[in-house]
Amino acid sequence: MTDTTQLWTRLDTFDLTDYTDRSHRQGRDALRGDAVLVDQIRALTDATAAVRKDAERLSPGTRHAAETAGLFLDAQEYLLTHDKPRYEQYASVGLLRHLLRVDGNTASRAERAHIWLVFRRILEAQLEFELAALAGISDLDKREFSPEVARNRYLILAEMRELVPGRLGGRVVGSRWLTMPSGDRTLRQVARDRSGTAAIERLLLFPQTTCYDEVAFLSQIQLGECLFWGALLCVRQALAAVAAGRLASATGHVRAAAQFAHPLIKIFQSVRAMPPAHFHSFREQTGNASAVQCESWQMLDAHLYGVLPEKVEALDSTPEVRHVLTLDRPGFVPLVQVVAGLGETPEERLLRDEIITLDQRVRAWRAFHTRQLAGRQNPGYLPEDACGSGGTAGFPYLAAQRPPRASGMVKGSVINSDQWVASGDTKIGTR
Ligand code: HEM
Repeated sequence: MTDTTQLWTRLDTFDLTDYTDRSHRQGRDALRGDAVLVDQIRALTDATAAVRKDAERLSPGTRHAAETAGLFLDAQEYLLTHDKPRYEQYASVGLLRHLLRVDGNTASRAERAHIWLVFRRILEAQLEFELAALAGISDLDKREFSPEVARNRYLILAEMRELVPGRLGGRVVGSRWLTMPSGDRTLRQVARDRSGTAAIERLLLFPQTTCYDEVAFLSQIQLGECLFWGALLCVRQALAAVAAGRLASATGHVRAAAQFAHPLIKIFQSVRAMPPAHFHSFREQTGNASAVQCESWQMLDAHLYGVLPEKVEALDSTPEVRHVLTLDRPGFVPLVQVVAGLGETPEERLLRDEIITLDQRVRAWRAFHTRQLAGRQNPGYLPEDACGSGGTAGFPYLAAQRPPRASGMVKGSVINSDQWVASGDTKIGTR
């Protein structure tokens, strides 16, 4: 038997339905105490890593499947063998990035549509989770289920569907919640589904606790990830187009980025539907997981505004995002600064308007997060004077951030293309 045949046989022995069910019903601590399970996951992680090491000689389908299974197993192994989760493992961000197919530097129409599709599937799964609980047909036995909270969150999340562009707003078939209890697919079958749909439904969401609202929290993080990645790729394409003097093309890319930024505020409004007491019930278990470790956001922020001086220390002390500091260099011009070089031709005005819209959406998101989530008091989501789980000062760290405002950029000299850094110069995921 070849290595890969052996691997598929072994992955067939992993009972995904049982694992998912236990993580929802018992929480991570109970699973961590199961030495047989931990050993099995460790062994499968090693076997998958051995195959992934030789990725070059694998067919694209096999490579995709090995990568899918490997990224799932890497995160689960980490969570089961470390006291404190980190952001990427906690929210299955490595696997999500792979499923979003965002490792390249482009944001073609098809690539953007794919990101929206993944977003849509995650959203739909969360809506069905809330509906099943509200209808009393979920048997996951979750703690602190409040019908009022679930209903309010459902309504906000449902509004988000309207912000998914055009044809992609149609209904998505399939759900992790309707298939989970009887789901008979093994890890091998899920990993080998080329479309990635099965992996989205079955491999992304594993809570630490049995708290009902933690499921939504994980979905909300993953929805945010989809939008950050989508916006980032478009912004990079826009910068490359500006560098090449193709302003109409840049405008299209910025418009697409602004579309991705549109639902961001709704994600936070839906987080706010959760009472702080519910957050306190699972916050401790999220350990050192903090979105300060979120590569897509930190890259997006830096491409939009430049590396904010208030963030240098946090970025430097966070391995997942330290590489973002490479953008803090002379010659790198972030998107809002492009406004300063635009004149009054119709083409330039269009581009400026789109950049301002994008900036406004991202600012609204940032302000809501800082004031309504991190800064909310009586009762607050965070204990007063609490540090952030990412090791920052928490609220003061967020409140200190002063990104330059696109609308406040003074008109400067004509754009000199030598000034611009083409988007291909900075690689994503190079840490
Ligand atoms: C009750 C919910 C939340 C609270 C209280 C909260 C609080 C915080 C705090 C205190 C930080 C500072 C960094 C640190 O942890 O040391 C932070 C960072 C961050 N959070 Fe949240 N957060 C919440 C939910 C979310 C969600 C659902 C998302 C994503 C959809 C998110 C995205 C981010 C991002 C991207 C950062 C990094 C900001 C930066 O470094 O510029 N947060 N959050």
